[in-house]
Amino acid sequence: MAPDLRTRLGSSELPNPILTASGCASSGRELAQFIDVSKIGAIVTKSVMLAPRAGRPTPRMAETPGGMLNSIGLQGPGIDAFLQRDLPWLLSRGARTVVSIAGSTIDEFAELAARLSDAAGVSAIEVNISCPNVEHRGQVFACDPVDAGAVIEAVRARARFDIPVFAKLSPDVTDIVAIARACVAAGADGLSLINTLLGMAIDTDTMRPVLAGLTGGLSGPAIRPIAVRCIWQVSEALPNVPIIGMGGVLTGRDALELILAGASMVSVGTAIFHDPSACARILRELDEELARRGTERVSDLVGAAHDVRASGRRV
Ligand SMILES: Cc1cc2nc3c(=O)[nH]c(=O)nc-3n(C[C@H](O)[C@H](O)[C@H](O)COP(=O)(O)O)c2cc1C
Repeated sequence: MAPDLRTRLGSSELPNPILTASGCASSGRELAQFIDVSKIGAIVTKSVMLAPRAGRPTPRMAETPGGMLNSIGLQGPGIDAFLQRDLPWLLSRGARTVVSIAGSTIDEFAELAARLSDAAGVSAIEVNISCPNVEHRGQVFACDPVDAGAVIEAVRARARFDIPVFAKLSPDVTDIVAIARACVAAGADGLSLINTLLGMAIDTDTMRPVLAGLTGGLSGPAIRPIAVRCIWQVSEALPNVPIIGMGGVLTGRDALELILAGASMVSVGTAIFHDPSACARILRELDEELARRGTERVSDLVGAAHDVRASGRRV
């Protein structure tokens, strides 16, 4: 019997738990020549903002051992073009769409949620709170439980009741569980973890920073152990809150690791840059991993690594 890969996303059902990660597949169109976008669990869009944005100057990507740095700076067409062009295209292809939103103020996030609530084809909203809050001296929303909660409360208040709201957390904090709790208390239906870690590279020939934006977000296999740790800690503290896990997933086995830590869905990001069909391959590999283990339902393995509690093996 083939394993049952179906996964819940709020009140709707995904055929499987493999999603794209925000910012790594734009709005899905580029992937369509490599994979059938309706066959993976969902497309998570690049974070969309109210107005179009050009992003940061180049160079804005750099390879690092086991990963990469990016300082794209939320380049995008803005919500009007997204609603007119990208969302209808995804719907026409039969893809389920998680729309990632980003803003510089709480009102911007709320406005985006309201605009999306009037549109057809939004399976969930993922709130990218790794943005500077211009009303709070540029402090990143995701690094402060009060600011993080305030964004989520505003989004939840303006989003249509049947659209689940996921808060996407940053690992660049002392206590990720405190931020997770604040977001859930503010009404988040689920959590996405993790966003990139702030990093930097210096070219020793030019003796200058590699990225024009100086610092950038570190992603790829180098961060997977951090993703596993964050998912584990949050799932331990909030076992009933659905988690979309991401961070360095390259194979079906990697996806399974995040599932065992507590993720019920897994987003694939950096892997797409060197293998544009990575999501379809990882889905196939996950299916094989589960079949080999005789697992009937992927949902049986969500957070299964925590079961060490019951067997008393945990020290
Ligand atoms: C080039 C690039 C652009 C990204 N853009 C976004 C974005 O717009 N919004 C967001 O929430 N995360 C963004 N991310 C973070 C990813 O969604 C993901 O959380 C992170 O890269 C970890 O997953 P990975 O190691 O599989 O890439 C971006 C990552 C990369 C590499």
